[in-house]
Amino acid sequence: MRLVVKKDYNEAARWTADYIVEKINKHTGPGPFRLGLPTGSSPLGVYRELVAMHRAKKVSFADVVTFNMDEYLGLPADHPQSYHRFMWDNFFSHVDIRKENVHILDGMARDPEAECEAYDREASEGGFDLFLGGVGQNGHLAFNEPGSSPRSRTRVITLTADTRTVNARFFEGDADKVPEKALSVGMGTVLDAKEVLIIITGYNKARALKAAVEGGICQMWPISFLQTHPKGIIVCDGEAVEELTVGTLRHFRGIEGISP
Ligand code: GLP
Repeated sequence: MRLVVKKDYNEAARWTADYIVEKINKHTGPGPFRLGLPTGSSPLGVYRELVAMHRAKKVSFADVVTFNMDEYLGLPADHPQSYHRFMWDNFFSHVDIRKENVHILDGMARDPEAECEAYDREASEGGFDLFLGGVGQNGHLAFNEPGSSPRSRTRVITLTADTRTVNARFFEGDADKVPEKALSVGMGTVLDAKEVLIIITGYNKARALKAAVEGGICQMWPISFLQTHPKGIIVCDGEAVEELTVGTLRHFRGIEGISP
């Protein structure tokens, strides 16, 4: 695992966007670059940077295929808090991605299980060059809540009370308004990607970062499954490292060529 420690959120976002752009620009195929994408506040800075780099003609998304991680069950695509809306408002509408190359789970699918199976099949057939993610305070990745299997595939998930409480900020502060279920790619779906890059910033993610880096591999911290990935990268900021030991920080800073 690589742990890249940046000074603050903006630097972490810039580093992540540069990394993604380099991967897209160096991609030679076969086929388009396949990218897994998250929602939430963590990737907002990355999307902002990617849009700026696109406007500066440093990157094109015309030959990029995206799959989003998750969607709330029961929210239509045009709901203000749907992940469809989030992605189009914050990223897709501002770049040259082709609509047919965007994949987001349908929260209104008549048969959500069938929707998940079909989505997983399509995602897995082409695989992923890179899966970008964030992490929940309880260590969830996408909506893989604690207890998720490392081999889980795209499925319907019941959200935990703590996740609904944390996400209440997007639903007028009312946890009861947060949908009880979501559709989410599985841990196995994400871990099959050639590379997995997770952004972890802020004091409120310090426990999750500690579990991801220093804890044992454990289903109660799904983010810890990243330790089993051959090319897992965590990009974090000075706040998120709060709970790491000095030795751990020194170790990873040394590897990245930064003085401890
Ligand atoms: C949500 C999403 C996750 C996201 C996480 C963290 O519940 N399903 O994909 O990574 O919360 O969100 P944030 O980045 O806003 O802290």
